[in-house]
Amino acid sequence: MYVCSCFGVTEQQVKQHAEDGACTPRRIASACKAGTDCGSCVRRIQELLGRGASPRREPTGEGRPLLPNLSNADLGLDEAA
Ligand code: FES
Repeated sequence: MYVCSCFGVTEQQVKQHAEDGACTPRRIASACKAGTDCGSCVRRIQELLGRGASPRREPTGEGRPLLPNLSNADLGLDEAA
């Protein structure tokens, strides 16, 4: 089955490049050009590499404050001000 129709690259070819050390879509592209034209195959290439679709960026703190709760004294602020 074709993964990249722009360059006629098959799933088997992508898997072989991955086994040969191409562990990112960019390296797959260097090996066989897959993903370098329309780009519609990049997600499938990521899946074949076991990386899934591009992860959505989640808030760094996953809902928790990024900084620990600091008192005004910790921050050098005058409590009375
Ligand atoms: S389908 Fe792979 S670059 Fe277009």
